[in-house]
Amino acid sequence: MFEKLMPRNTEIDITPMTLGDCHAASALHGQRFARGWSDGEFHALLSQKTVLGFIAHGNGLLPRRSVAGFVLAREVAGESEILSIAVDTRWAGHGLGWRLMQSAIKEIKYRGGETVFLEVDEGNAPAIALYRKLRFATVAERKGYYADRDGRKTTALVMRLDLV
Ligand SMILES: CC(C)(COP(=O)(O)OP(=O)(O)OC[C@H]1O[C@@H](n2cnc3c(N)ncnc32)[C@H](O)[C@@H]1OP(=O)(O)O)[C@@H](O)C(=O)NCCC(=O)NCCS
Repeated sequence: MFEKLMPRNTEIDITPMTLGDCHAASALHGQRFARGWSDGEFHALLSQKTVLGFIAHGNGLLPRRSVAGFVLAREVAGESEILSIAVDTRWAGHGLGWRLMQSAIKEIKYRGGETVFLEVDEGNAPAIALYRKLRFATVAERKGYYADRDGRKTTALVMRLDLV
């Protein structure tokens, strides 16, 4: 589904992620998460028919290769999950996370998704605020699920959005 959402920042477009975007997405993942995902991990995920992704990138004013954000999700038989989302720190707080999530949710609905699950560190205030704004609700907690950059264990919140 190629579609441009109404932009809050006109120099960035959101388009479906392709295998050619895996390298840039991996670099961005490494910037924003304690455990990075390699190009190969992105490639393996995106090669699966059940996996969908979108990237935020320059639209002409900025070079196409300047990836500002991405989202990856999986949809299987009505149940879907957000696998990962990240926005470059230089673009944080400009509405890209919101636009990426809206793109993913729209595609999930198009594929027949009825619920969307995700896991988020309970200390990740920007992400939790974004998900609550999208009407995700916390449905479970997983204690000691994540380890931060210092190896400390933290709790994951499981959040769910019902689409029907
Ligand atoms: C979470 C993340 C994707 C949000 O992306 P973003 O582009 O900065 O978010 P947006 O600008 O679209 O903000 C959408 C909403 O999220 C919330 N939000 C975003 N940044 C916030 C911050 N620093 N503090 C509090 N709330 C914040 C707000 O509710 C905001 O709505 P508003 O602009 O109307 O106030 C981004 O912070 C990120 O990449 N974090 C590192 C990776 C990560 O933690 N991913 C999620 C793992 S579960």
